[in-house]
Amino acid sequence: MTTSEKVRQIRASKGHERIAALTVYDFAMAKMLEGSGIPLLLVGDSLGMVVLGYPDTTRVTMADMEHHLRAVARAQPGALLAADLPFGSCATAASAVENARRLVAAGAEAVKIEGGRAVLPQIQAILSEGIPLLGHLGMLPQNALVEGGYHVKGKNEAERQDLRADARALCDAGAFGIVLELVTGAVARELTAAVAIPTIGIGSGAGCDGQILVTTDLLGTSPNFIPRHVKKNWHFAEQMRAAVVEWRESVVHPES
Ligand code: KIV
Repeated sequence: MTTSEKVRQIRASKGHERIAALTVYDFAMAKMLEGSGIPLLLVGDSLGMVVLGYPDTTRVTMADMEHHLRAVARAQPGALLAADLPFGSCATAASAVENARRLVAAGAEAVKIEGGRAVLPQIQAILSEGIPLLGHLGMLPQNALVEGGYHVKGKNEAERQDLRADARALCDAGAFGIVLELVTGAVARELTAAVAIPTIGIGSGAGCDGQILVTTDLLGTSPNFIPRHVKKNWHFAEQMRAAVVEWRESVVHPES
């Protein structure tokens, strides 16, 4: 499928089929996800926290994103491959376009940018280059330092109205979807009904058109903590550690 066909399919799924999207960070993970039927994979800047050992996403650089994106793209995962524009990469419309082009050159078929009307010139400039764009509203991890943590959005009328205006702006500009992160369930449902493009929730209840998860949270291999919205059904880190301990025992005490 071409990139445009994949984008069109995701847009057209609104109201028909729910979208299950995941993050991906390297070649091995992309290969593992092959054949899982996931239509949208994101090289997220969550990379900083779950792979690179940073406390938040703000230290992730364009070079980090390109390095991991290239590894993922080498696996040719088949799903629409989106990549995050990292912290500081979209200060102006010109730098947003330049960095979006760099991500495309590294293998991205679409880019994701955090924010709505505050970065509308950047969004419009990227879209006018013909680069498919996924929005991201609600709790914006790149703002975690200035906001002092990860807080649920949409809890008061001003936030609700802001989110609604941002969602509309993204939709009108031509984004193919919007990630809604840590938005109250009621506001996520309202935004989902208010826009013609799919909303893809994370920690925003079940009322979105789809859901996205950090894959290492789903698998139970994220190193520091796993957010509350993740059902902790899988504990692969424990199983991997048990495999290592069993193997070490077989080397150290071969007779037992
Ligand atoms: O960086 C990321 O992984 C993300 C998802 C949580 C949506 O932005």
